[in-house]
Amino acid sequence: MKGRVATELHLENNGMSQGMSNNNSNIEKKTAKEKIIAISATHRDESNTEAMLLQTIEELENKGYEVQLIKLRKLNFKSCDGCKDCDTNERCHIKDPLTPIYRALLEAKVWIIATPEYWWNVSGLCKTFVDRLNAYWKAREKYFEGKYFAVITCGGQPIERTGYAERYLELLFGKLYFQHIGSVRASADGPLEILKQTEKLQECRELGKRIINKLEEKQT
Ligand SMILES: Cc1cc2nc3c(=O)[nH]c(=O)nc-3n(C[C@H](O)[C@H](O)[C@H](O)COP(=O)(O)O)c2cc1C
Repeated sequence: MKGRVATELHLENNGMSQGMSNNNSNIEKKTAKEKIIAISATHRDESNTEAMLLQTIEELENKGYEVQLIKLRKLNFKSCDGCKDCDTNERCHIKDPLTPIYRALLEAKVWIIATPEYWWNVSGLCKTFVDRLNAYWKAREKYFEGKYFAVITCGGQPIERTGYAERYLELLFGKLYFQHIGSVRASADGPLEILKQTEKLQECRELGKRIINKLEEKQT
């Protein structure tokens, strides 16, 4: 892959707090380039969805956008334990490698979520990550209104038998008040098999362009 590689987020727990108000100046401040976060929810290294995501990232970086890439498989993070404490205090009591990621998530204007389709749904990593967002459910409008999301998915079945992961994520982020920019869905099964599908890779680059158009339209 040519060009720059997205910054992989610094993963150590540096004690940042999770629950941050949308009034925080870092979030409201208009920066020259809005922050973009890319979440890779594949379980394997030679991943089709991550290869697709990297195309979108490269397009964004070539236009000067900073993208923070979170590879969920590299984080040894825990499942939600269902305690529901977060319903009242808007933060997760679990302290693990996901803890310092919350700040970056809240600061980003755009989230790009890339997941393989597993059992007619998102990957286990993706679902575990989503469950850990429960702290923001009650005050979702405050945290997420004005943010955008884009989705990248890949299933091993023929394309017409896929789409469940994409539909799930579009539903979920809609409920969280995010606005949808676009989705790219592919069919490929073997490791990095997607690299043979140049049109699909181009679709991922087009998704990057759509993200830029949306951000630049908002800034004028
Ligand atoms: C546990 C498991 C469940 C899967 N379930 C589905 C499925 O329901 N539908 C589908 O189209 N592909 C399914 N697949 C195939 C993957 O979606 C496919 O291999 C995809 O390329 C994986 O993406 P990745 O390379 O980004 O990890 C499954 C694969 C695994 C390992």
